[in-house]
Amino acid sequence: MNIFFNEQERVFRLDTPGSTYLIALADQAGFPAHMYYGRRIPDDNMRYLLRLNPNMPAFADSGDQLAYLGELPTEYPGHGLGDYRESCLRVETAQGYRACNLTYRSHEIYGGKPGLEGLPATRGGEEDCATLELVCADEALGLEVHLYYTAFEKLDAVCRSAKIVNRGGEALKLTAALSACLDMDNKDFDIITLHGSWAYERMIQRRKLGWGKQGASSTWGISSHQMQPFLALLEHDANQERGQVYAMNLVYSGNFLAQAEMTQQENVRAVIGIHPEGFGWKLNPGEAFQTPEAVLVYSSHGLEGMTHTFHDLYRKHLIREPWRNKPRPSLVNNWEATYFNFDKEKLLDIARTAAGRGIEMLVLDDGWFGCRDTDDNSLGDWVVNEKKLPGGLRYLAEQINAMGMKFGLWVEPEMVCPNSNLYRAHPDYALQVPGRKPMEARHQLVLDISRPEVRECVYTQLKAVLSSANIEYVKWDMNRTLTDVASFCLEADRQGELFHRYVLGVYEMQERLLADFPNLLLENCCSGGGRFDPGMLYYSPQIWTSDNTDAIDRLRIQEGTALIYPLSTMGAHVAACPSHTNGRVTPFETRGLVSLPGCFGYELDLTQLTEEELAMIPGQLENYKKYGSVFHDGDYYRIASYGENQEYDAVLAVSKDKKTAVLDYIHVMSRQRRRTVLLPLRGLDGETLYRSSETGEIRSGAAWMYGGMVMPRMTGDFTGKLIVLEAV
Ligand code: DGJ
Repeated sequence: MNIFFNEQERVFRLDTPGSTYLIALADQAGFPAHMYYGRRIPDDNMRYLLRLNPNMPAFADSGDQLAYLGELPTEYPGHGLGDYRESCLRVETAQGYRACNLTYRSHEIYGGKPGLEGLPATRGGEEDCATLELVCADEALGLEVHLYYTAFEKLDAVCRSAKIVNRGGEALKLTAALSACLDMDNKDFDIITLHGSWAYERMIQRRKLGWGKQGASSTWGISSHQMQPFLALLEHDANQERGQVYAMNLVYSGNFLAQAEMTQQENVRAVIGIHPEGFGWKLNPGEAFQTPEAVLVYSSHGLEGMTHTFHDLYRKHLIREPWRNKPRPSLVNNWEATYFNFDKEKLLDIARTAAGRGIEMLVLDDGWFGCRDTDDNSLGDWVVNEKKLPGGLRYLAEQINAMGMKFGLWVEPEMVCPNSNLYRAHPDYALQVPGRKPMEARHQLVLDISRPEVRECVYTQLKAVLSSANIEYVKWDMNRTLTDVASFCLEADRQGELFHRYVLGVYEMQERLLADFPNLLLENCCSGGGRFDPGMLYYSPQIWTSDNTDAIDRLRIQEGTALIYPLSTMGAHVAACPSHTNGRVTPFETRGLVSLPGCFGYELDLTQLTEEELAMIPGQLENYKKYGSVFHDGDYYRIASYGENQEYDAVLAVSKDKKTAVLDYIHVMSRQRRRTVLLPLRGLDGETLYRSSETGEIRSGAAWMYGGMVMPRMTGDFTGKLIVLEAV
């Protein structure tokens, strides 16, 4: 067990291999106070770190209770009673009174980790982790709050969530219910967030932490292209290899707030959870609200340490079976090849070309159903268009299977077009504010997925389609953000629940899908990477990273994504050229190199490729077969960032046994250089000898790491090399 309670000190201690997290019960009242989070400390008498003013009288007798609560580092702050920093919990009574503060009631420590009802969360058995359930209460409100902390045995991760229960006799309204808070001293912190836009997701932004509130958030109804439910606080001089990093990531796919606040005494409060804006949740007596899970990662080995912990945690404890360690099939997707303009013959032509080169799956994207030849109709009518596909999906899948390939299908279950049979029959199924015409985006409206009958209606259609043919993969798309967030089925005082109920509805549908089709490979997508978050990864082991398929733009997008998420989760395709996103022309080989570390595929008309390009495909697939597992299951090292140096990019993956290392080097922009680029590698075994596939040189891991690897001289823009080091 790695969680302990010291009764004398009234301190809880959570240990992971490299970190310690300490919670104290402060004062007689037992405020759950944050004492320490950082490098592992063996001592058992750490209460001195609470640093309460020794002259401060007991809280109950104090004439200055406000100062006490205003400064106390708190595990789950309430509001309205002297703590003016961001709160995790805000409550309104039936009379409209707003105040709340928690004190300790009881606790339990047990092995393993309970699941969160209706919500995705990391998983762990007794051999993996232990959980502290800290029960607190606000007596005046009759409110009970269970704070869950899971500490992992082999990873420096602590997962937190809260369950809020109304034990009183009157209804209460939660107006904020975040997942975690971290109150710390400022260690000359920088803050990292990931920002972006459609087709430019997860750009890394690092800046000095300033006074006041800063961070990332979404109120778009999805985790969003614009921001990630993530923040990292790191020492100002921390880099990839050195320095302390504190990171938070939310296992959730809707509105969120991830915020750091530097307060008057230069303390830092970091919080993460569902965004309070637009949120309200009515709790009748006896009812409970469960927050999503926040993952806290601590690293004393710089950003690399943080990244490795997230990657290992998500690969081992979030991604579900049977895909957890299974190689992902290479695929060809017809979207950028044909858009809506295809028929059975065209698809079979593409499939034949793909099968002949060894591609393992054909994915049929948008346009196979209703009368969808353009994007302004038919979402909601999940019936195959037999004009385009005579014989239906069964026939198509059989033909493709006969070529030795798998067959996959695109769907967009959360949406409806006004021009659809579904909308004509049930206009009330769309989110809308009565009296207002709902906002269309890409000619579509959002279905009120919070309603069981709406989910049932769509899911029944989906199940029939997926049962009609041998469909082994589904791309679940979602192509607009939420507006008109009102439901016909919620009472006035529950409309604030809709954003969250929508997300719960999506989770329920995906859970059901995977229960009915347990071997299905699900890939989530949201106009590219608009919902690339751990919530979605709980259901789908891979996510379409971005609609931007230009190899050069992708370098930065994939770098930001891989800061948190394993390479095995990133859909990455060799796409059409000139790029449909930005018109850039890049060599076929380079596009292959940029896509290789992810879930590899093609997204272009294979029948239009030159002989020379077609001839490259078997080699690219062979590399994916041979080294895909090193990228997907090994340790990832960011050796060079084109985003930073504007010249070249280098990703290194090292197998867990350190016998194979693969360097994916992209020479982006040529410039005059007298000396070649020297790249010090990382993660190798210093004593082991490795042979380079590029030069045949044999050198020790120490030489490759501390001396460095001399990159071949390259001319021209947008070229690259895959260099493999094998232990000899
Ligand atoms: C957006 C996705 O990101 C694309 O890959 C494609 O599936 C289109 N939607 C289809 O409408």
